[in-house]
Amino acid sequence: MAVDVAVVPVAGRGTRLLPLAKCQPKEMLPVGRKPVVQYVVEELARCGVGRLLFITGPGKTAIENHFDIDETLIAHLRETGKEELLAELAFERADIEYFFTRQRRQLGLGHAVLCAKPMVGQQPFVVALGDSIIGLHAQSRVVRVMIDQFEETGADAVIALEEVPDEDVVRYGIAVPRGGAAEVFELADLVEKPAVGEVPSNLAIAARYVFSPRIFHCLEQTPPGKGGEIQLTDAIRMLIQQGRKVLGVRLAPGQMRFDIGNFQSYFQAFVEFALADPQYGEALRAHVAELLARPAEDRPCS
Ligand code: UTP
Repeated sequence: MAVDVAVVPVAGRGTRLLPLAKCQPKEMLPVGRKPVVQYVVEELARCGVGRLLFITGPGKTAIENHFDIDETLIAHLRETGKEELLAELAFERADIEYFFTRQRRQLGLGHAVLCAKPMVGQQPFVVALGDSIIGLHAQSRVVRVMIDQFEETGADAVIALEEVPDEDVVRYGIAVPRGGAAEVFELADLVEKPAVGEVPSNLAIAARYVFSPRIFHCLEQTPPGKGGEIQLTDAIRMLIQQGRKVLGVRLAPGQMRFDIGNFQSYFQAFVEFALADPQYGEALRAHVAELLARPAEDRPCS
């Protein structure tokens, strides 16, 4: 069955971004010129997704508003001679149907995905985390590669993987390859935040998945873990333990996942996207170079 639907969980509290994300969804934070979730939707549209189900929660209505066609704003831009800005609203016309459901209690990513069951039913589907961009300006086609692998191999799950530096492995869910780790390979297991010295690979789960509906059954059987949350990784491990095929697909060389969920990687993402801005990037680069060239004692926080 062709994969046409994506589930985008955006219901998390974003506590690691307080106070910034107290009253605005972290998925709406700007990275360069666009909010994070717009990059996610544009990436999915380019990869052939036609229907998109947001799993929303308290305080997240700005996300719904953002994807509305805003006729009043369009009329205002026309009336005030700002037609050139209409191009900035072209994303409103993307060939995508939007659906929304609520995760009424924030019981973790696995629980958020389970909230999609009544709509997704017996279809395969993509999961794309609403707080992560894949590739600079979301140019990654990894979801297309994952869908093709899913359709060709009969796997029950395909997971995007990013190579991370040795010192960072302990912060992620890490793939245990069955045999060698080629571009596409079968997983023997996943390890959540492995201890130093017990690291099975440098390949971290990178915010994009394709699942058969079997994952719902596993999520229903998954007991709450740390913090009372139902972990998606635990449900994928259950698939593997049941003898189901679970594949990993590496991000293309040079592509990375931009995780907006903590300040360190959010700042890095913003700077990288702003430096690559066709209009303002060059001036920003000169400004940053000038800041960095200042003697250490003249830098406010050094
Ligand atoms: P995170 O794992 O970053 O969790 O979510 P979080 O709760 O949003 O953030 P912290 O840990 O409090 O800082 C990854 C993605 O899954 C969604 C989030 O909105 C984000 O896009 N999510 C997470 C849900 O939809 N529901 C949840 O219960 C948890």
